[in-house]
Amino acid sequence: MELRLRPLRAQDEESALAAQAELREDGFTFLLDFDTEISWEQYVRRWDGYRRGDALAEGYVRSAFLAADVGGELVGRASVRFSLNDFLRHEGGHIGYAIRPAYRRRGYARALLGQALVVARAEGVGDVLVTCNDDNEASARVIQSHAGELEDVVVASDGRLVRRYWIR
Ligand SMILES: CC(C)(COP(=O)(O)OP(=O)(O)OC[C@H]1O[C@@H](n2cnc3c(N)ncnc32)[C@H](O)[C@@H]1OP(=O)(O)O)[C@@H](O)C(=O)NCCC(=O)NCCS
Repeated sequence: MELRLRPLRAQDEESALAAQAELREDGFTFLLDFDTEISWEQYVRRWDGYRRGDALAEGYVRSAFLAADVGGELVGRASVRFSLNDFLRHEGGHIGYAIRPAYRRRGYARALLGQALVVARAEGVGDVLVTCNDDNEASARVIQSHAGELEDVVVASDGRLVRRYWIR
């Protein structure tokens, strides 16, 4: 079944919160800019706004948070940033992604990045910066499969070594 990227919606709450707990085990944040002070509906609206560039949190640029959906199942997510600030240029990149553990090794990350690139380009991003931890073999393969060119390896603000790839 095909993977498609779509905006988050009200019905995603349960599976998105489950994904958030699963990815925490990998030390990865699934739901960006999430806090339990607001309702799920407000969280979905927050991202609708961020896509338009409205009421951005500090450090955020106009961006989309997209659910990766396969046959109605939430298998992962993509974050597509439409420009770079200093942090994103140094270590965050234009596109971030995660696949839930139960759905890994089926080619979904590769498909997801392909679609996220289309979203970025539709928003006018030319060369796309994608980064991954130096020891994240799976993510590096995903980026290389989309012709990512390694520019360098930098020390991130939290001390991790991060590879910076450009997809031209
Ligand atoms: C990294 C991640 C997105 C990969 O998702 P996935 O859907 O399993 O990846 P794919 O099935 O598309 O596989 C892509 C490639 O990685 C390889 N791969 C997948 N898991 C792997 C692993 N654990 N170790 C080594 N290689 C792996 C696949 O064999 C494939 O290689 P190929 O293109 O040479 O055949 C997923 O493991 C994940 O969400 N991890 C936690 C969050 C994260 O690291 N996000 C990326 C931040 S940059």
